[in-house]
Amino acid sequence: MGSPDVKAFGAADPELAAWAAATYRPEDEVLRGIRERSIAAGLPAIQVGAMDGLHLEVLARACGWRSAVEIGTLGGYSGVCLLRGMGERGRLDTFELDPGRAALARRHFEEAGVADRVRVHVGPALERLAAVEAEGPFDVVFIDADKKGYPAYLDWAAEHLRVGGAVLADNTFGFGQVHRARPQGEDPEAMEALRTFSARLAQGGRFRATLLPTGEGLSLGVKVR
Ligand SMILES: C[S@@+](CC[C@H](N)C(=O)[O-])C[C@H]1O[C@@H](n2cnc3c(N)ncnc32)[C@H](O)[C@@H]1O
Repeated sequence: MGSPDVKAFGAADPELAAWAAATYRPEDEVLRGIRERSIAAGLPAIQVGAMDGLHLEVLARACGWRSAVEIGTLGGYSGVCLLRGMGERGRLDTFELDPGRAALARRHFEEAGVADRVRVHVGPALERLAAVEAEGPFDVVFIDADKKGYPAYLDWAAEHLRVGGAVLADNTFGFGQVHRARPQGEDPEAMEALRTFSARLAQGGRFRATLLPTGEGLSLGVKVR
C-alpha cells in the first residue's frame, strides 16, 4: 500500500484539498522542483505532503526553532521546509541511509539556497546520531524514516531535545493500518513499532503530545521533562 504520489489532505475530499492548496499555496517552484526531480531520479514519492511541509515551516516559525534534527532526508523536501521556517540562523542535521538520496538532497539544498545551514549525514540514523549529540539539546526532532525505528528515534529525541522542544513524526496512522491487529498490506512489525511509538509519546511521561489528523497522521509532542 504505502504512500500515494500526491498525498491526501483533509477529509479525503479532493475538492476541499484543491481549495486548501489554492488558498494556502504550500508548494512553490523550489519545492515542486525538488519533488519532480526526485521522482525523475527514481526516488519513491514518499516525501511529506505539500500541506505537511507547510505545517513544518509554520511550526518552526511559530516556535522560533533554530536547531533541528531530521531522521529520513530523501530528496530534501521536508528539510527545505524546516530550514525555511527556522530562517537564516536555523541549522538542520538530517540523516539518510541511502548515499544516492543523500547526494541528491545536497544538490537540492544548494539549489534552494540553504546548503550552508544543513549537514547531511549518511548511514543508519541510530549509528550516526551520536555525531551530533554534543551540539544538543535541539529544538526539534522530525522523524520520517523506517517505521520500525520510531520507538528508538523517540528515545533519542527524549534525551537530546531541550525541555520545551518538540518531536514530530510523520505517518503515525500507519497508512490507515496502525490500529489493526491484522494490518492489510503493511508490515505487522512496523505497525507494532508505530503503536509502541505513539503509546510511549502519549503516555511515557516525557512529552505532552497530540496526533494531528493530516492525511498520514503527524504526531507532535512537546518535551516536558
Ligand atoms: C519518507 S522518506 C523521508 C522523506 C523526507 N523527510 C521528506 O519529506 O522529504 C524516508 C527516508 O528515510 C530513509 N531511511 C530509512 N531507514 C533509515 C535509517 N535507518 N537511517 C536513516 N535513514 C533511513 C529512507 O532511505 C528514505 O529516504
